[in-house]
Amino acid sequence: MKVDDNEIKNFQKKIRKFYRFHGRELPFRFIDDPYAVTVSELMLQQTQVERVIPKFHMWMKQFPTWEKLSKASNQSILSAWSGLGYNRRALYLKKIADVITNKHYGVMPTNLHELQKLPGIGVYTSHAILIFAFQKRLAAVDTNIRKVILSSFDFSPETSVKVTQQLAEHVLPKSKIREWHYALMDYAKTLPSDVHKRYAAKHKQTKFEGSLRQIRGEIIRQLTKEKHTTFIRISKSTRRSDMDISDALASLEKEGTINISKNIIKLS
Ligand code: ADE
Repeated sequence: MKVDDNEIKNFQKKIRKFYRFHGRELPFRFIDDPYAVTVSELMLQQTQVERVIPKFHMWMKQFPTWEKLSKASNQSILSAWSGLGYNRRALYLKKIADVITNKHYGVMPTNLHELQKLPGIGVYTSHAILIFAFQKRLAAVDTNIRKVILSSFDFSPETSVKVTQQLAEHVLPKSKIREWHYALMDYAKTLPSDVHKRYAAKHKQTKFEGSLRQIRGEIIRQLTKEKHTTFIRISKSTRRSDMDISDALASLEKEGTINISKNIIKLS
């Protein structure tokens, strides 16, 4: 790796100094509970911090442990998740709760391989859980951390995932790894908009309006309010084509979120 030690020292100083004065205090930081860390990281995967904060508090009150979550109904879980979008993440949390309570004696695994077998937990999230809940010395790279690291060392926006991970490990300080990651996330907010644009991920979130995701969201919304719904009701409220509605229903059925029987649609 062609990055000199002095450059790394200066980078670490810059990030640490920034954090000392401008670090955000967030309810899901500096907590050692792996359950709470996992809930917050799944919420934060595709939703902004400001919208996550109140939902995180409510969720933790309603479902304080893996065990309580595994006993909850999909309806109550999806209802607690409403407003965060991408409902699949709520169901992933429930499936994780089932695996942890049934297969791991209620204890979260502490290695990357086991964590990545759990639904909804990929490379970034598994690293984040081990860093934030277990204070392991690892480097987690999400889109914001990637932008900070690549732009600070003048690496190209095309840098591969592998090289980016190596660079993140190369610039990792010896200690206070948890704070280091909070600091990188907060520092990303100060990057100028042209840097954000240049280093933006290619696969952008698609527009919600007119998407299948919008129909899926409406179906779930109806099913968190009532026990079942029908094609006609979905059609009336979404005013979308029968083809689009069929596609949305088929995707929800295939992933096991809903059951369809004799035109009656229910949560699984
Ligand atoms: N603090 C802990 N995890 C975070 C995340 N994913 N985004 C922002 N701040 C965080």
